Amino acid sequence: MVLIKWSSGLSVGIKKIDSQHEYFVRLINSTYDSVENNDNYKVLKEIPELINYARTHFAAEEEVFEKYNYPFTTEHKKEHVKLTEKAISFYDRAQKGENIGEEFLEYLKDWLENHLKTHDFKYAKYFKENKIKVE
Ligand SMILES: [Fe+2]
Ligand SMILES: [Fe+2]
Repeated sequence: MVLIKWSSGLSVGIKKIDSQHEYFVRLINSTYDSVENNDNYKVLKEIPELINYARTHFAAEEEVFEKYNYPFTTEHKKEHVKLTEKAISFYDRAQKGENIGEEFLEYLKDWLENHLKTHDFKYAKYFKENKIKVE
């Protein structure tokens, strides 16, 4: 089963970033499977993987922002911190034995769709409009 379906409509037009988003979606879908199968052991293993990958991806985006002097870097970084902190708090709860699977995935799905379409699309538009070719 698939929780989030990747499509070209989610593309920001930067190859490296698109493939990271796609991979992130794949990780979320995999965790979704584990939750559906009530595989708590796997869920506990996958949450930190998700957090680590999110961190890697956020760092890659923020590096692009610095490099091209993106003017909305501060507000964008705040959104990244918000997700990271929230995911860590879900992980803490899961480690204490709480069954957070469904709630965590719902949060992730909403966050990702909203973040992509609002904040990530914003830099995509900015770079495009300013004819900045991101490498
Ligand atoms: Fe972002
Ligand atoms: Fe992103």
